[in-house]
Amino acid sequence: MRQITVIEHLLLHQRQNPMATGQFTRLLNELILSAKIIGRDVNKAGLVDILGYTGNVNVQGESVQRLDEFANSVLVHRMERAGVLCAMASEETADLIQISHRFPKGEYFLVFDPLDGSSNIDANVSIGTIFSIYRVKDGLSGQVELHDVLQKGAEQVAAGYFIYGSSTVMVYTTGSGVHGFTHDPSVGEFLLSHPDIKIPPQGKIYSVNEAYWNYWDGATQRAVGMFKDPNSELGRLYSLRYIGSLVADFHRNLLYGGVFMYPIDYRDPKKPKGKLRLLCEANPLAYIVEQAGGMATDGVNRILDIEPQELHQRTPLFIGSTAEVEKIREIYSQAG
Ligand code: AHG
Ligand code: MN
Ligand code: MN
Repeated sequence: MRQITVIEHLLLHQRQNPMATGQFTRLLNELILSAKIIGRDVNKAGLVDILGYTGNVNVQGESVQRLDEFANSVLVHRMERAGVLCAMASEETADLIQISHRFPKGEYFLVFDPLDGSSNIDANVSIGTIFSIYRVKDGLSGQVELHDVLQKGAEQVAAGYFIYGSSTVMVYTTGSGVHGFTHDPSVGEFLLSHPDIKIPPQGKIYSVNEAYWNYWDGATQRAVGMFKDPNSELGRLYSLRYIGSLVADFHRNLLYGGVFMYPIDYRDPKKPKGKLRLLCEANPLAYIVEQAGGMATDGVNRILDIEPQELHQRTPLFIGSTAEVEKIREIYSQAG
């Protein structure tokens, strides 16, 4: 395959796409540089004093890995200076991150999970960075408020992720299909490796943490149980694959087909809507999976239609091939 970079692909293959503006290509380039810096340290994590926990707890009430903080600081530092954002938001930061008056502002709002799958860092399991991009309604100056930037996922102008695994891969969409690029360290570029990714209409994989079985309601147990019954309406036996890094589980299911589920469970009364975050996890992956021909719901409702009320809003997530997500929706709808 001819060596095609991300920006070349954006300009050549999505010419009709209004996203190929100067500001957007600058935003993408800064995201790519951030991922190269994060990937460099992820790949040598064991060799530098960057493993383990900081001892701090983040806004999510989760203990923070040093690599979480490192990835977050790389993204905030680079994106603030890019001159393309009016504000940004991170899974690791309680409030909106304002752009210092020292830097020019732009027309985009960026939300990101700087490091997804943090619990796996020390075990050398694939982890990633997830990003979601909105255009703000009109040029904002001064202090940006939440109501200026909070929009439902269907309003995203781009979304994607980097996955730091055996190689570093970038997958993203601007609404003209889903495209994957693999980092070639010998030239320092992400080169097109997975053009126009389409998720199989039905798979053979289901991904869920079954340890929570006894904390699920009846409808969830029926939905998950369907994948263990070869005589179910899905008509085939499935394999359970669960890495514990959403970005890695999602990426595998995107390529092979199947469904990832993170239902509401009743272990933690402080998390009545489940563990995963709407803005920096569910929305970007939902945009990608729909562009690849799949589906993403909260069990019943389309993820991209959910009107966010707060920055760190959680949501149950059922995402992947249409056949599976649709069957799950029928089960929850019948349960009422
Ligand atoms: P993060 O590392 O950004 O906090 O995300 C972790 C998430 C997600 O990556 C993964 O699918 C899920 O946590 C795993 O949760 P459980 O350990 O409860 O299965
Ligand atoms: Mn995450
Ligand atoms: Mn994270």
